[in-house]
Amino acid sequence: MQEAVIKKRVLFTLLLVSSAAFAADLTGNWVSAQDLKDGTFRRTYLDLRQVGQTITGHIRAGAFYYEVKAAQSTSPDAWTLTGSMMDGANERKVTYEVKLSGDELHVATRRNSNAPLNESIAHRAPAGEGAYPKRIDLPALHKVPSNGLAKTPPMGWNSWNKFAGRVDDAAVRSMADAMASNGMKEAGYIYVNIDDTWQADSRDAQGVLQPNKKFPDMKALADYIHSKGLKLGIYSSPGPNTCAGYEGSYGHEEQDAKTWAAWGIDYLKYDWCGARNIYKDDEMQAAYQKMGDALLKADRPILYSLCQYGRQDVWKWGPDVGGNAWRTTGDIRDTWDSMSKIGFDQDPLASWAGPGHWNDPDMLEIGNGGMTETEYRTHMSLWSMLASPLLAGNDLRAVPKPIMDILTNSEVIAIDQDPLGHQARRIWKSGEQEAWIRDLTGGAQAIAIFNRSAKDSNVTVDWAALGMKKAPKTLRDLWLHRDIPVVKDGFSGNVPGHGVVLLRTSK
Ligand code: GLA
Repeated sequence: MQEAVIKKRVLFTLLLVSSAAFAADLTGNWVSAQDLKDGTFRRTYLDLRQVGQTITGHIRAGAFYYEVKAAQSTSPDAWTLTGSMMDGANERKVTYEVKLSGDELHVATRRNSNAPLNESIAHRAPAGEGAYPKRIDLPALHKVPSNGLAKTPPMGWNSWNKFAGRVDDAAVRSMADAMASNGMKEAGYIYVNIDDTWQADSRDAQGVLQPNKKFPDMKALADYIHSKGLKLGIYSSPGPNTCAGYEGSYGHEEQDAKTWAAWGIDYLKYDWCGARNIYKDDEMQAAYQKMGDALLKADRPILYSLCQYGRQDVWKWGPDVGGNAWRTTGDIRDTWDSMSKIGFDQDPLASWAGPGHWNDPDMLEIGNGGMTETEYRTHMSLWSMLASPLLAGNDLRAVPKPIMDILTNSEVIAIDQDPLGHQARRIWKSGEQEAWIRDLTGGAQAIAIFNRSAKDSNVTVDWAALGMKKAPKTLRDLWLHRDIPVVKDGFSGNVPGHGVVLLRTSK
């Protein structure tokens, strides 16, 4: 008898414990909102179904839309959810630690293994809120007529490298003020480009895209920029979200192009980002074509810059979608390794650049502090040899003279802007020394002799090794701003570690 009572009690306790273990049910649509202080919130939606210990569903966080692939219970009311999404051919994985506490879900995640822990509290949201938009099929491919812009590579400034999410109306105006008065405008820098984080959370009742609090009046801002003799650029995505999680142009392409035209926008950077959750990489051309058509229809000259990190051999179809430039790489960082890897890898793409359509190895980091002046001269020389867009990425309000001299070296800019539009090729390499040649209008050539090693080196190279039949008539050093003696056999001189000697020949 005694034993039976004990057994019953044990059974009862077990039931209680196990029912407690299974009582916590994550089923539902959960939302957390981080106030970005610009009138927008970064919302994360966890749309989850729980059956016993199995949890399925999706997590939508800015431009990322993960399927829950695994759920590991870490205590009766806490789980580790593993989310996965495809980014082109690559799988992107993330883990979310979630803990149910009353009617709140405590959520912790890291953007990547080195990033700080991001903690938030999610609340129950109505079913369907934040649901990921349905796929909109893409048009058949056709050739978008050229807009006639960018006969030479675009030049200007872009907010991302220095300001990222901190860009606002005042910063943009002060960059324009600086550009118009510090010699940059005269040197050819014309576009003032606002990158990501200018958009509001939602569109108006008619679906018109709105700026957030940081940009109170886009039309007024464009008028101001134009009054300085400069042009204004903006940023969006073919996906529902931009890389920073802001509103993209998905399903609103024509409407957005019209809005930008009405504001007076002159340049669009169009960044794949959230589109990867909807389209496959091999659908990029059609997605970019859609905006190319929309920009033409908007009836204002808007330079069209594609940003999809050089996937899908974009250089082969960039001009067909109306693109004036296309990124050929992932994001640049302000380090020698990042800049030199990107820049010196561009050789195979030379034949795809030309007037109206340019390879874009990303924006300049000159003046941002992560490289030496010698390295920044290499950056400027290499980008100019590559006929790359020259978009300064530093704070223009107080530029030290040596940095300004690099950015505004008119002889180097003349190489970048040479109307022939031929991108340089690597013609000679010996260990970490290499020479690149670019044909210029009128039979002249630019020769860049780079020393990629960290140590100063003497470089000696024959004219023949540079593909020249005879010594050039004259030779000008574009950083020293003076003609140098032409030696019969070839070039011989000291090139500083990570540095360059940039020369211009005449026939
Ligand atoms: C991507 C682009 C960058 C920048 C950011 C903004 O990473 O490649 O150049 O535009 O998005 O979120």
